Amino acid sequence: MNVQIDHSLEEIRRFRPSPEFAAQAVAGPELAEAASADRLAFWADQARSLLTWSTPFTRTLDWSNPPFAKWFDDGELNVAANCLDRHVEAGNGDRVALYFEGEPGDSRAITYAELTAEVKRAANVLIGLGVKPGDRVAVYLPLIPEAVIAMLAIARVGAIHSVVFGGFSADSLASRIDDAEASVVITADGGYRKGKVFPLKPTVDEAVAKSAGSVGHVLVVRRGENEVDWVEGRDHWWHELAAEASDEHEAPAFNAEHPLFILYTSGTTGKPKGILHTSGGYLTQAAFTHRNVFDLHPERDVYWCTADVGWITGHSYVVYGPLANGATQVIYEGTPDTPHPGRWWEIIEKYGVTIFYTAPTAIRSFMKAGRQIPQSFNLRTLRVLGSVGEPINPEAWIWYRHVIGGGSIPVVDTWWQTETGAIMISALPGITDLKPGSAQVPVPGISIDVLTDEGDPVDGTSGGLLTVTEPWPSMLRGIWGDPERFQETYWAKFGDRYFAGDGARRDEDGDIWLLGRVDDVMNVSGHRLSTAEIESSLVAHPLTAEAAVVGASDETTGQAVVAFVILKDRQVSAASDTEATSQELRAHVAKEIGAIARPRQVFIVNELPKTRSGKIMRRLLRDLAEGREVGDTTTLADTSIMEIISAQVR
Ligand code: WTA
Repeated sequence: MNVQIDHSLEEIRRFRPSPEFAAQAVAGPELAEAASADRLAFWADQARSLLTWSTPFTRTLDWSNPPFAKWFDDGELNVAANCLDRHVEAGNGDRVALYFEGEPGDSRAITYAELTAEVKRAANVLIGLGVKPGDRVAVYLPLIPEAVIAMLAIARVGAIHSVVFGGFSADSLASRIDDAEASVVITADGGYRKGKVFPLKPTVDEAVAKSAGSVGHVLVVRRGENEVDWVEGRDHWWHELAAEASDEHEAPAFNAEHPLFILYTSGTTGKPKGILHTSGGYLTQAAFTHRNVFDLHPERDVYWCTADVGWITGHSYVVYGPLANGATQVIYEGTPDTPHPGRWWEIIEKYGVTIFYTAPTAIRSFMKAGRQIPQSFNLRTLRVLGSVGEPINPEAWIWYRHVIGGGSIPVVDTWWQTETGAIMISALPGITDLKPGSAQVPVPGISIDVLTDEGDPVDGTSGGLLTVTEPWPSMLRGIWGDPERFQETYWAKFGDRYFAGDGARRDEDGDIWLLGRVDDVMNVSGHRLSTAEIESSLVAHPLTAEAAVVGASDETTGQAVVAFVILKDRQVSAASDTEATSQELRAHVAKEIGAIARPRQVFIVNELPKTRSGKIMRRLLRDLAEGREVGDTTTLADTSIMEIISAQVR
């Protein structure tokens, strides 16, 4: 195919699915037709055909008390048994569920029969530690098979997991343990990262000591073989308890609305929100989208999603979607460039990966490193590529399709959120004409609209606010312990329509283009960070009087954290070594929140731009951070302030 890579021709690029691909595709045009004919009947069909119910449901949706939805709520199922036992019972026990690749090069292939037995054993371990349905269990693990096993074992016994990304600090872990009142923490001694063992257990020890005291047991997987401190009676080795536990466990049935997990994500205030997901609806949409968006043929595909289970992508597209569908997938513990910059491509070649799902930030950093690295591996098993986490710029999309995909395979850009639980907007690879840079169309059964601030449909192709206008099966059911915040954050603006927090526009063809967050949430390498959370961490440092944080656009990471800080003693600040102070503040944020939150730059300034009512004008600081001409300053209390700040920043 003759492809235009000319920037100016961006608008006219379209890629039609090849006839061969379309002929074998799981999703055909009838899917969208069925969904638009009767949306609820469509979802009920999906729930019945994709999942196995212990008690069949008769009610599809209860939306009598918006925004609190109930899906399939008189049905019962066990989520873990849907991901495991039924595949074994169907005769697929010998199919590989997980190809685990450790960073040091160790590997394991785990079949569905083996994974089922491991999960049953772990379920018995949890029961032995007193875990009951509805209890919260925190998971703080590297990306190793035990992370998947732990999540499924928790789900199997009807407890609620709260997975905390292994890069988060002890403080962040402690506040999540406290908010959910977790009774057990599952962790590892350490994991491998960039060629070294990074310890996890000490962080858990510190977090549990800081927390309010809900944790009775810490279960420790041996992975890094690093020395760890031990609290007798509280701490247990996973391998010791698992060895003693039975691998017989009958999965109990739980109501479709039984809570499955809490996952914390950044919002517009300093305090992370515990997004709550439940069982039947969540699993239906995770399985449905995984199968149709990625064109999954479980008997022949090898799927790889590079996300960590600490994020929603790892929940829905490493654990629940793929395993509910009986897929064979790769999980990789380490970083993309260890021990060499071609590690990911080597893994694709080694396992013959056919479906690959990653983030634009990764693609852009590979673009920078050059195409000769991926081109020295055989990537020709690939047949579908996916992208998630932030808008993918057309240049990165084209590079991904050409250099990684060989030029003719579909790239699907998937828009969704921790809150939506599963993919909401995406092309379907056998049907949609692909358009680089656009997330394209709502998946069948999902209703999206772009509205003005007042809640009216926008004019033509103008930009507006992205909303979901009908409830969907995998929607969040609330914020843990805070129904008011749930209501206020997502529903106060447009009534019973969900406000996503993203700007968007529709083009002439009706395709949706995402325009970034419209609130104080930043997106750094596809990870959500709150300006308020980083500001409060900076202000907690003894040197800081005031801080303002903005997300500035960054070539590789999408956005980068840039902070402007006023020190307490302005005399000292003028005289002292501002470079050392700004390094210290960067390190402070990394320690308080986690390395992903470390500001790219901290500028020490004497003033911050404020309106007459005292509100910081972040828009002006963003102009500075992005090296632009500073915009309209007329609403500032003191219009000369920006000149002073600019001089200090340069
Ligand atoms: C952004 C990650 C544009 C968006 C699954 C959203 C995207 C936030 C895309 C959710 C995409 C995610 N195009 N923007 N394909 N995917 N986003 O909760 O701003 O970590 O609101 O979920 O990421 O981030 P979260």
